Amino acid sequence: MEQQPQRAVDRRQTMILFKDVSKVYGNGVAAISNLSLRVYKDEFVFLMGASGAGKSTLIKLLMKEEDPTSGKISVNSRDLALIKRGSVQRYRRQIGVVFQDFRLLENKTVFGNVAFAMEIMGKSRREINEKVEAALSLMGLSKKADEYPRNLSGGEQQRVALARAIVNSPRILIADEPTGNLDPANAEQIMYLLELINSRGTTVIVATHAQNMARRMGRRILYLDHGVRDEEMSSGDADGKKRRTGASDQVNVSAAFNDFAEEAEDEEYGSLFTEDNAVNAEGGDSDE
Ligand SMILES: Nc1ncnc2c1ncn2[C@@H]1O[C@H](COP(=O)(O)OP(=O)(O)OP(=O)(O)O)[C@@H](O)[C@H]1O
Ligand SMILES: [Mg+2]
Repeated sequence: MEQQPQRAVDRRQTMILFKDVSKVYGNGVAAISNLSLRVYKDEFVFLMGASGAGKSTLIKLLMKEEDPTSGKISVNSRDLALIKRGSVQRYRRQIGVVFQDFRLLENKTVFGNVAFAMEIMGKSRREINEKVEAALSLMGLSKKADEYPRNLSGGEQQRVALARAIVNSPRILIADEPTGNLDPANAEQIMYLLELINSRGTTVIVATHAQNMARRMGRRILYLDHGVRDEEMSSGDADGKKRRTGASDQVNVSAAFNDFAEEAEDEEYGSLFTEDNAVNAEGGDSDE
């Protein structure tokens, strides 16, 4: 689980590798054809493509919810085809997922939603409390812990979904249209938080239709059309090019998010910028 900072670019570690992957569904639809891609451990990558281009299918393949018809997929140097049925759940725990429609449990509080998976895993109350509180704090939700999802705004619900996805320090975070149901201000806030999560050592993949937003982020954009049709390194805006946004380093926050950061300092979001309250992406000092 060690997440050493990457020193030299040519020594970057590969997190996700697709080699000539095709997926034909049972009804004969070829959702993905001869797709090859590589995503590095420290990357934040956008996946763009028209409706039906295969974005969600790619995500399902990555989650091993679907198996490819041909080709090879490996994650963190592990060939997904070799993962036994009984180990799939454990494999998936390395991956946090956020959906457009949040998928929160309505009969559980914010805290309960974020804690749920850890409770199923039989983690200790102490560890659950610690990690859930850290994740809620990082997402600026400490004050909402006892609320139910129906009492939250769309942006807040999406942040709960983010907290739930990162509570166990996953290696990879996948977000399928995470801003599709949000207004521009909330969408930017979510993008900022995804960037924050990435800076703490998690590979981030975001499927989106929001090209303008993706282009402002200064990240790699993969254009999907059943295969990877094109690729661009978006320049981002003046300050957006800066990499490795440090959670405790406000200077590195993309210009697009400075407003949020300033506001955050005054309120509970201040905790976002202190190491103490932040999710421990290394998972290092826990008692596992
Ligand atoms: N379970 C399934 N069975 C059969 N065909 C499917 C299945 N899931 C997706 N497809 C088909 O595969 C193609 C790719 O779908 P996919 O959901 O991956 O697209 P997408 O890029 O996520 O689109 P959107 O932007 O609309 O979410 C589409 O033609 C779709 O109808
Ligand atoms: Mg989709």
